[in-house]
Amino acid sequence: MTPAEAALADTPEPVGAMAHDDYYKIASDSLPGSGLGSYALPEDVRFVIHKGEGSRLQDVRGRWYIDYVGGAGALILGHAFPTVVEAVKEQAERGLHFFGTLNEQCIQLAEQLVPIIPCADRIAFTTTGSEATAYAMRTARAATGRSKVLKFEGAYHGNHDYSAYSVTPTALSNYPQGRPDTGGLPANMVDNVLVSPYNDLETVRKIVEENRDDLAAIIVEPLQRIIMPKEGFLQGLRKLCDENDILLIFDEVVTGFRLALGGAQEYFGVLPDLASFGKIVGGGGPLGCVGGKAEYMDLMNPLNKGKPNYSYVNGTLHGNPIAAVAGLATLAELSKPTFYKDLHALADDVCKACQEVLDKNRVPGLALGQGSFWQILFMDKPPVSHADVMNSDMASSRALDLAQMHEGLYVLPNVRRFVSAVHTGQDIEDTVRALDAACKRL
Ligand SMILES: Cc1ncc(COP(=O)(O)O)c(C=O)c1O
Repeated sequence: MTPAEAALADTPEPVGAMAHDDYYKIASDSLPGSGLGSYALPEDVRFVIHKGEGSRLQDVRGRWYIDYVGGAGALILGHAFPTVVEAVKEQAERGLHFFGTLNEQCIQLAEQLVPIIPCADRIAFTTTGSEATAYAMRTARAATGRSKVLKFEGAYHGNHDYSAYSVTPTALSNYPQGRPDTGGLPANMVDNVLVSPYNDLETVRKIVEENRDDLAAIIVEPLQRIIMPKEGFLQGLRKLCDENDILLIFDEVVTGFRLALGGAQEYFGVLPDLASFGKIVGGGGPLGCVGGKAEYMDLMNPLNKGKPNYSYVNGTLHGNPIAAVAGLATLAELSKPTFYKDLHALADDVCKACQEVLDKNRVPGLALGQGSFWQILFMDKPPVSHADVMNSDMASSRALDLAQMHEGLYVLPNVRRFVSAVHTGQDIEDTVRALDAACKRL
């Protein structure tokens, strides 16, 4: 029985230390919404993970799932990749965490990252991608002495206040005013976060011209969620920033080490001033970094403390050695000559196979794929803006995603998903079977 079939089996053998329902009883008493973060999954599809193996996950009931969430994209080598596990075990015996002065492992990783990241003369470690975008924005404000940052509608830059506008708006924004995604934002914050539609250079230009004296940076996900940049869009942002003395920040938390070894900046051939990374850089462990031009990165030098353009960067887990060795072991795989060609071909196969299933079942969905990202949306042509995604039939795509979870695929509803290098032909076959059953279930 394949894992996808096992997912359908009525009575797989439980493998958890406790039963599914007992775990959820504890979770409902102790965790807000019985969940982690902002995902509230319906009771009939939610599950408690017992372990991950390669491209698959097993829940405490013994059910297997093909994992397309991939640790939110952090696990480009899937679960428990042997060389990563070996490196982590070895490091764990030598210490989980150090602070204050350098450790060997983070220096070795920094030595590799600087030549890999095209815009980086230096890098600074963080713990998460959110921190990396927050520090990049702070550094841009310190460098320019200005407060505002322009972001794009539908773009996510992490959990901090500067990111929490118009990420998942229920209505389009009144540009450049964004719509708050959460309560608890400082009252004047909205004036400091400007919002533009993605892929719309004219609107960006207008906002930049109107805010030139206050604007520190434009931050962009170079490939925003599942939306490709239009020809010339990233180049246009670069030019606008140069003309107006504004910093260009690429949020490469997802695209970094995934679109190409050198991330979106290598893939699209546009260099930002600063770039933020997370996820893959720590091999799935707690690590992120900011990379960029020396003139900006050097503002983080602690010897500048007290100067108005000093950019404070500090954190307990920065440069964590466990994540650093996991990152080093991951980079060793990513550096192999055909790694990205093979990964993208595999993802292409997943998308094509899924499109065939949708067509065969006359389900009006598009299996959209870019590099190793993919997602099924109910629209008739690929989106160019967040408005296109909002105008798609998101209720149907959510229903189909939930049906896929029933059939043994781990995907989050209406969220972009990832193919990892360890997905196999068997996974594609089982995915086709599961999606077909999900279409019929709809
Ligand atoms: C583009 C982008 N930026 C920033 C972040 C935040 O990273 P983290 O969750 O590591 O804080 C994410 C997380 O998914 C992301 O997708």
